[in-house]
Amino acid sequence: MPTSRVRGTRLVLLALLLGALRAISFVSSAGPSPRSASSSLALNAEVSRKQALLTAAVLASGASAAEAEDMKSKVKSLLKEDPTPNDNGAPEKHIPKVTVTGASVDVVVPHVMDKEKPHYIQYIWVADASSGEVLAVKSFQATDGSPPTLTASLAKGTTAKPMLFCNLHGLWEGEQFTV
Ligand SMILES: [Fe+2]
Repeated sequence: MPTSRVRGTRLVLLALLLGALRAISFVSSAGPSPRSASSSLALNAEVSRKQALLTAAVLASGASAAEAEDMKSKVKSLLKEDPTPNDNGAPEKHIPKVTVTGASVDVVVPHVMDKEKPHYIQYIWVADASSGEVLAVKSFQATDGSPPTLTASLAKGTTAKPMLFCNLHGLWEGEQFTV
């Protein structure tokens, strides 16, 4: 093969190689398309929304069984963390008060919901007076309004006690009641 022909073939091959390299670098620098970026943002927003719904869920008013079990196990771990109620902080700001109207129970406490410190009520629940079983539970964020309130429906004849957990002052319980 004449030398000029060989040189020409090499040049063609080189041009093809450069073209291929350019194509590869274009693909790698393009990154995710704007469409896929916005999809992942939408996905993140959906995850946050579900978490907010989960933490706001109330066992007695339609939370799923899985959500209720999750909150119950958190309450149980708080009881292990601070097993003695009413021993830290001002009683008038921490003892939960109950209003019974038929089978409906409101549990409320005049406590701050201060997101700056933070200082807030993390959980309010109603426990069966004899077994201690959690009958209704609600979780709160420091950004929620004050006073934190749990509303629940209990079976007629149930005797229970209201309980709560403050992030700074631990476990508190109020007087037992019967619906
Ligand atoms: Fe407190």
